[in-house]
Amino acid sequence: MLIAPSILNADNLNLETDIKDAIAAGISRFHIDIMDGHFVPNLSFGPQLVEDFKREFPMTDAEIHLMSDNPDDLVPAFVNAGADLVELHYEAMSEKKLDYWLDYLISNDVKTSLAINPDTPSDVVSKFASKLDQVLVMTVHPGFGGQKFITDSAEKIKQVREIVGTDTAIEVDGGVNDQTIKIAKDAGADIFVVGSYLYKDGDIANQVRKLEKVIE
Ligand code: DX5
Ligand code: ZN
Repeated sequence: MLIAPSILNADNLNLETDIKDAIAAGISRFHIDIMDGHFVPNLSFGPQLVEDFKREFPMTDAEIHLMSDNPDDLVPAFVNAGADLVELHYEAMSEKKLDYWLDYLISNDVKTSLAINPDTPSDVVSKFASKLDQVLVMTVHPGFGGQKFITDSAEKIKQVREIVGTDTAIEVDGGVNDQTIKIAKDAGADIFVVGSYLYKDGDIANQVRKLEKVIE
């Protein structure tokens, strides 16, 4: 079980403090949302942030949630910046491209994840399962933090667990708080991306503890 903070809704002008506070609370992986203003209607961070992050926090994992339909430029850019894990969206490219970029990640020793949107059926995961360290089941429509967890996602998580077995992690992203984390965990998820609940609703260490209490 792992809580991966999404820094999208952290304080951008005090990002270092927001990251350090989470690390002090025991966090070992951050979820970095990359939005391209095209695949999703919002813009966020670029490779420079990941490079800076890995220079300052080399022992902490950078998980890149790539919400972009331009993998050809961006996957190498984030790998070169020091990404530990890259999540590619099924909806963002052809299956052929997906296969190619998953192989690229594997050959560069970067962990792989396939992200699926709320409207994408779970069975698309089967074809790629052997190449995946993780599946990201989106529990909101990607693009913005602070949205409401889609409760139907529980069924999707169960279906993905059936497909990938126990060796592949299942992550959920969107609307995770101290209530919805239990729904996701009970359905079979083991990694929880948390944005607003950690960075908008109070003291970070306290929020981490409240979540851990539910999933431990
Ligand atoms: C949404 C992003 C999420 C988001 C999570 O497109 O992928 O990672 O920042 O934020 P909350 O926890 O506020 O839904
Ligand atoms: Zn995300």
